[in-house]
Amino acid sequence: MLSQQDLKQQAAEAALAYLEPLLSAEAVIGVGTGSTADLFIDGLARYRSLFRAAVASSERSARRLSALGILVLDLNDVQTMPVYVDGADEINAQRQMLKGGGGALTREKIVASVAKKFVCIADESKLVQILGNFALPVEVLPLAREAVAREIRALGGKPVLRVGFTTDNGNQILDVHGLSITEPLALERSLNQVPGVVTNGLFACRPADVALLATQKGIRTL
Ligand code: A5P
Repeated sequence: MLSQQDLKQQAAEAALAYLEPLLSAEAVIGVGTGSTADLFIDGLARYRSLFRAAVASSERSARRLSALGILVLDLNDVQTMPVYVDGADEINAQRQMLKGGGGALTREKIVASVAKKFVCIADESKLVQILGNFALPVEVLPLAREAVAREIRALGGKPVLRVGFTTDNGNQILDVHGLSITEPLALERSLNQVPGVVTNGLFACRPADVALLATQKGIRTL
C-alpha cells in the first residue's frame, strides 16, 4: 500500500515525464506551491540544464527553486510558458479546482494564466464530486475583511479569518466553510465581483488542462 507521500511523489514524477518533451533552452516553467509542488521542484532540478528558468507562484517555491540552482524569473519578464504545474486542495471531474490551502492562490492564478497548459498534480484523495468540503480560501485586502465577510455570509458561506497569516502580497485570507459548490463558475465570478476580494480559490473559469492523479494502481489522467 503506497502512502500519501508516495502518491504525491508519483504525481510529481508523472508531471516531469509530461514536461520533458516540452523543455528547450528558452522554456520557462511555471511552478506552483504546496507539498506536491515541492516534490515536483525537487525532481525538476534533474532537468536544470534542459530549460531556461522558472516562475514561482510563491516566495516559498522561489526559495526552493533557487536553492536547487534553478533560475527564478519575475513574471513581468516572461511572455509565455509551455506549462504551469501545481497541486490542488480539491479537483472535480471537469478539472475545476479549489486551491489556496497554502495561501498562494493569487499568484497561482496569475502565473497559471500566462502558461499554455495547467497541469494539476495530486493524489487521488483530492478528486471530489462537488467542490467545497475543503474551506474555500478568499484573499482580501485587510481593510475590506469585514465587508467581504458580510457579503460571503449573504452568499451562504461561513468565513473564518486565517489567524496569524499574511499572504506574499500583504493581504489576509478568509477560509469559507459550509459551501457546497454546485456551480463553481458562477461562484468564482460572483466572489470576484465583491469589492476588496483580491482572488478566490476557485479555478473554474480556467480549469486544469490535464490532471495527473496518483492512485494505488498508477497514474489516472483526467
Ligand atoms: C497552495 O496555495 C495551494 O493551492 C496548493 O496547491 C494546495 O494547497 C495543494 O497543496 P498540497 O500539494 O500540499 O496538498
